[in-house]
Amino acid sequence: MRLKGKVAVVTGGTKGLGRRIAEAYLDEGAHVVVAARDEASARPVLDKGGDRVVFRPVDVCSADSAARLTDAAVEHFGGLDIMVANAGVSRPGRVADLDPEQWQETVSTNFTGTFHCVRAAVPHLRASGAGRIITMSSALGSRVAPGASAYCATKAGVEMLTRVVAVELAADGITTNCLSPGLIDEGMGKLLKNSPVWDQYAPKLASGRLGRADEVADAAVFLAGDEASYVNGHVLEVNGGLVW
Ligand SMILES: NC(=O)c1ccc[n+]([C@@H]2O[C@H](COP(=O)([O-])OP(=O)(O)OC[C@H]3O[C@@H](n4cnc5c(N)ncnc54)[C@H](OP(=O)(O)O)[C@@H]3O)[C@@H](O)[C@H]2O)c1
Repeated sequence: MRLKGKVAVVTGGTKGLGRRIAEAYLDEGAHVVVAARDEASARPVLDKGGDRVVFRPVDVCSADSAARLTDAAVEHFGGLDIMVANAGVSRPGRVADLDPEQWQETVSTNFTGTFHCVRAAVPHLRASGAGRIITMSSALGSRVAPGASAYCATKAGVEMLTRVVAVELAADGITTNCLSPGLIDEGMGKLLKNSPVWDQYAPKLASGRLGRADEVADAAVFLAGDEASYVNGHVLEVNGGLVW
């Protein structure tokens, strides 16, 4: 019960890694707001969490929508202690061929969306006194992957944003850290399991296997809890040992 009494918002908490993080937070005693665009996909996590979990809609591409989300979390659970800005998309394509709309969607969701969620959470996290922000990068946020230009660039941006926010908010008692998963057998990673991407990736991977969503969720519990009170501005890689 490492998060007992805490209130967390997990964007993209309906599917994939976000859903597993939300479930782990519930297991640790937190109250959780799972947020995404599609409410129907929230059913499994809502069934698991009883009255300690609610769904609230958000489109992280909109600053107003992100603000409505954090206000709704405070209204429902009486405060906000943890913001997990997890929602993300991946739109592959080499720069010369990438549709500008797909570039824009990736930037709006992964990068600007993280900014919107962090910004909307700050006033409430200040009131918490022990606020936690967890952003979501990827192994590709610090490694060159041809064909993943938009994804790599946005995740690199998320990592630098995390470091700046950590310094700006430290005096408010808020820590800001970033998770950087490798290829995980859940969500968008699962789709790549039997693709040529895995053939390129596997030789670089010390552990020789995809990660599990619960291995990412365990790291997200650590960063949200008291044990990480002196961890700030850190990018925590959860990738099984990647030698790129
Ligand atoms: N799975 C992996 O192997 C892996 C590896 C490294 C990093 N990551 C990162 O981990 C995060 C989660 O990935 P995942 O694999 O779990 O993806 P996923 O299964 O595709 O889930 C993405 C989640 O984000 C939500 N979302 C997408 N666009 C949104 C928007 N504009 N506003 C609000 N919610 C939005 C989706 O819900 P709706 O569509 O209903 O809105 C969904 O709940 C991402 O940031 C991803 O880059 C994943």
